Amino acid sequence: MAEKLVFLGMGGTIAGTASSAGDNVGYTAAQVGVQALLASVPGLQAILGDREAAAEQVCQIDSKDLAHADWQALRSRVLHYLAMPEMAGVVVTHGTDTLEETAYFLSRTVPAELLARKPVVLTCAMRPASSLTPDGPGNMADAAAVALCSGARGVLVVCAGKVHSAAHVQKVHPYRTDAFDSGEAGPVGLVEEGRVRLLSDWPGEDASGHHFDLAALPIQAWPRVELLFSHAGATGSVVRALLAQAGAEAPLRGIVVAGTGNGTIHKSMEAALLEAQALGVRVLRVSRCAYGQVVGGSPSHRSGAFAAAGLSGVKARIALMLEIAAQT
Ligand code: SIN
Repeated sequence: MAEKLVFLGMGGTIAGTASSAGDNVGYTAAQVGVQALLASVPGLQAILGDREAAAEQVCQIDSKDLAHADWQALRSRVLHYLAMPEMAGVVVTHGTDTLEETAYFLSRTVPAELLARKPVVLTCAMRPASSLTPDGPGNMADAAAVALCSGARGVLVVCAGKVHSAAHVQKVHPYRTDAFDSGEAGPVGLVEEGRVRLLSDWPGEDASGHHFDLAALPIQAWPRVELLFSHAGATGSVVRALLAQAGAEAPLRGIVVAGTGNGTIHKSMEAALLEAQALGVRVLRVSRCAYGQVVGGSPSHRSGAFAAAGLSGVKARIALMLEIAAQT
């Protein structure tokens, strides 16, 4: 049986259309099916060699509107395809806005033994499919090259010729086609004319924790974790409003706070977070700085532990959800 590579469509700008080919901003995301996107990839057959391409539309959505159920649906299709002996890997076309969240979610919930053998490569575009100069087809070609690269493993993000790991990737620009960055870790590699040049090792098993089998847990039972920022003028009112939501459809189980500098929190907000902790709500701190990670951790920080390994706020929220779910 011929080896295969599957492309899973999730929507996003890569599948977006505008009324004019010159418009790279006023478009509607998630309009073109993944099969049609595949047909637009330059030189795809040369990249595939004697392998076959398959495609499935999992969602068709602007990624800002993704729900946990969409992550669950994607994860289940990823597991399905990775388990097929003839499948070399999985490419996911996805919106850029929450791409890093989906990538991190998959890296923490797809069993490590599957990711050790086959990669899951997410790709995207900053310009719609209808653009005079779309970036999606080239990114899809690069993603296919990465997925088929010997030794590739883990959950990866490919955009603008760079390969990022799920742990470090972050969207850093609202317009540039090179919109992603891996901070101080740097990209895993580069894709040059269809060839992958590794700059570091492929990502290994996520050091930040075990993989949790979410399939065992219905979406309604996923713990509710909110993300807040500390800032000049912050008060405890948002935290107390969250705590006061008796009877909300999901009780509050955790709060991630993107703190100032080395993870510090405004004293007014911190007082409310201590009240939250006393009520059994888990509090996790990260730094709101774009680079680096919290260093040390003063014993005076009584409200909340620090998130592992410099996770951004959005990823720390997922990590805390998984941690609480695993203890449920
Ligand atoms: C989205 O995230 O779905 C829209 C924006 C984008 O893909 O760049």
